[in-house]
Amino acid sequence: MRLGLLTGGGDCPGLNAVIRAVVIAGHVVHRDDAVGFLDGWRGVLEDRCTTLDPDRCADLLPVGGTVLGTSRTNPFAEPEGPERLMATVERRKVEAMIVIGGEDTLGVAHRMHSMGLPVVGVPKTIDNDLSATEVTFGFDTAVQTATDAIDRLRTTAESHHRVIVCEVMGRHAGWIATQAGIAGGAAEILVPEVPFDMDQVCERLVRRHERGRFFSVVVISEGAFPLSGPDAESARRATATDSTDQFGHVRLGGIGAWLASEIERRTGYESRVTTLGHVQRGGTPTAFDRVLATRFGVAAVAAAHDGAFGTMVALQAGAIVRVPLESAITAPKTLDLSLLEDVAAPFLG
Ligand code: F6P
Repeated sequence: MRLGLLTGGGDCPGLNAVIRAVVIAGHVVHRDDAVGFLDGWRGVLEDRCTTLDPDRCADLLPVGGTVLGTSRTNPFAEPEGPERLMATVERRKVEAMIVIGGEDTLGVAHRMHSMGLPVVGVPKTIDNDLSATEVTFGFDTAVQTATDAIDRLRTTAESHHRVIVCEVMGRHAGWIATQAGIAGGAAEILVPEVPFDMDQVCERLVRRHERGRFFSVVVISEGAFPLSGPDAESARRATATDSTDQFGHVRLGGIGAWLASEIERRTGYESRVTTLGHVQRGGTPTAFDRVLATRFGVAAVAAAHDGAFGTMVALQAGAIVRVPLESAITAPKTLDLSLLEDVAAPFLG
């Protein structure tokens, strides 16, 4: 079989591990050929690709980023996009497309499948906000990176008796903030799912100081926001941007800086902000992510050979299963609030 691969959306540790798994498992188990399209759906639109063979992929397991490149190109926003995709796939004689991406990239895969493209999806995002899979690869690495950062911020915050706000990624969902906040012993964890009350945040920080804890690390997701009212307005003005991608997502960032300055203004505690940003997306994947990426890659090849097109491989109850692509993209998987309310809460403040 001739497999086509692409990686789309934000990059993520473990993408190369999936590419390696698809190419080598495809070759060893089925004698498949593989062609990699460059820069996500853009490479299929423009018919830019490269041959992938086991030799070329042999050392990719620990390598961050994606050797295929990526983009946030939406073929449905391009003139004759879907027709051009189909034409490339036919020209390259690709019999199954393995599409590695998050909600946007897989959303395109789903629409293309309904137009006849033989597609298998692999779930990717550091944000862990894809439905139908318990976890996406890349998330574990991002949480570890954020936890390491919180550990470091904690010692400098303590030395200087400061509040340090740490802004982490998480557009719709507070998975990274919550897991890293728990692992790093944060004083506050603020997530997109629960709009926060600035007065309550400050009151808790003041009570913490009164107990003799003269420093705090506050973890906030980039998508978190204050409750509606004057604070929400002020935060909106401070973080406003009109930059959007082809899928209509605005560029986030800046809520951490707003929060740090408000904490300092209201409590008088010296405050700083660290925005982790793309540090969370770069570098070598953890062992967990390497194994999950490899399991997903092997399973995607098997799904292609079974003709299970229009599905995505997923992790459920420890096993790799196939789910309809649609079930992954209909709504983002938001935080399990019991993690915040039951597990994190006793240690906050
Ligand atoms: O991949 C998802 C994500 O990490 C979001 O959390 C974040 O808002 C976005 O990517 C940033 O993307 P870009 O690399 O385009 O700035």
